[in-house]
Amino acid sequence: MQIRQADILQILDKKIFNLISESADTLLYETYVIGGFVRDLVLNRPTQDIDIVCVGNGVQLAQEAAKRLGRQARLSVFKNFGTAQVTYHDLKVEFVGARKESYQRHSRKPIVEDGTLEDDLNRRDFTMNAMAICLNKEHFGKWIDPFDGLKDIENCVIKTPRDADITFSDDPLRMLRAIRFASQLGFFIEAQTFEAVERNKNRIEIVSKERIVDELNKIILSPRPSIGFELLDQTGLLEIILPELIALKGIETKEGIGHKDNFSHTLRVLDNLARTSNNLWLRWAALFHDIGKPKSKRFYPKTGWTFHAHEFIGMKMLKSIFRRMKLPLNDNLKYVEKLVSLHMRPIVLSDDEVTDSAVRRLLFEAGNDIDDLMSLCEADITSKNPEKVKRFLFNFKLVRSKLKEIEEKDRIRNFQPPIDGLQIMEMFHLSPGRIVGELKSAIKDAILDGVIPNEYEAAYVYLMQLAEEKGITKPDNEYSKIIQS
Ligand code: CTP
Repeated sequence: MQIRQADILQILDKKIFNLISESADTLLYETYVIGGFVRDLVLNRPTQDIDIVCVGNGVQLAQEAAKRLGRQARLSVFKNFGTAQVTYHDLKVEFVGARKESYQRHSRKPIVEDGTLEDDLNRRDFTMNAMAICLNKEHFGKWIDPFDGLKDIENCVIKTPRDADITFSDDPLRMLRAIRFASQLGFFIEAQTFEAVERNKNRIEIVSKERIVDELNKIILSPRPSIGFELLDQTGLLEIILPELIALKGIETKEGIGHKDNFSHTLRVLDNLARTSNNLWLRWAALFHDIGKPKSKRFYPKTGWTFHAHEFIGMKMLKSIFRRMKLPLNDNLKYVEKLVSLHMRPIVLSDDEVTDSAVRRLLFEAGNDIDDLMSLCEADITSKNPEKVKRFLFNFKLVRSKLKEIEEKDRIRNFQPPIDGLQIMEMFHLSPGRIVGELKSAIKDAILDGVIPNEYEAAYVYLMQLAEEKGITKPDNEYSKIIQS
């Protein structure tokens, strides 16, 4: 692969590179644009992140460049790291002096010394990330590629520049980066690099959960996340990071009846969903949708394998997985829990005669996440039997139109019963307790089952009847007036 000099010069023909170049020459620092920016330039992937390395003081170079860029540039100096960042419009430019690093066995924190460009490229993770372009005027645009990164990009290969065991032992996060790049770019991990991941997998324990999740998110958001998860599995990293997914593996057969491999099914669901949605948390929900299956698996001679209530068991497992992985324990968790717990509902609807009442209940429970739930359920159809797939997809169309029709009619999606618990307490002079809850859910159920419309008047009349049946004293006229006003 050849990069045409004219193309490089065209990409570098920007105010930012020209001013960095002038600053570098003023300070007499050898200066390069390096790493991800150079890789993405070859891959034609637009990026706003630019890494600059100089043989000298990176902070000083950043200060000089920021001065030239003027008031629109924002400079931040990270004294402890000897680095600086300049933001300029939508560009983020990191400046650092060339480094030589050595690592200690039990820490990701390197001992850093000043070094040459060669030292700096040597310590990098992959050949495709160890390329640089000179910015000094005399050699402006000169391509530096000591490890044939360009050739590896051409061959779609991920490979470490040095002994892979050293590269990964120095910084075990790189094992995940290798897999993440493979998943994002559809590249292959070269054999020796792959074997080094297998050998060094346990070193992942020293990497913070936040960094691991950062890479997992990128894998999940890649066009075919299954590539990443299959590599995580093959290298042995998945067993360490997310053993719950490993538990999905395998096909057990009894009396000649087998069940599907829930690991490969899950990855297919994730890939299917990746074709229709970029929603990160919906994709996490796809990854975890069957996580409860191993615990719920039973064999009955008459019916074969069942995974009864796996959606609830799975939902219950999520909090501790999220806590362990330092995933956010906020609305994102609630959203994933909701989708996992509801993921069997539309499938059931599509199997049977769809009743209005079942559709209303689903709308009520899914609320605004109903469309995401439907996308997950459609992705969940991975049968090898094309007739079955066709039938399911057709029935889903019916469910979708039924959902639309009922939502338009009854506005259930964000439905709040027209009489709430507080009102019931005031009407009947009740204190909070079981009876209030019962009356409240009776109104909700009556609306969802289509016994009464979703309106105050009807709910009031229904409540009065119910109260009478239960022998609860009717409100005096004063109260009913207040409530109705
Ligand atoms: N790098 C490395 N080891 C790491 C992280 C980064 O050697 N664990 C080097 C690589 O040369 C990389 C550069 O630092 O290209 C910049 O890293 P970063 O910005 O984190 O990643 P990118 O490679 O730019 O890719 P992305 O932005 O997709 O994360």
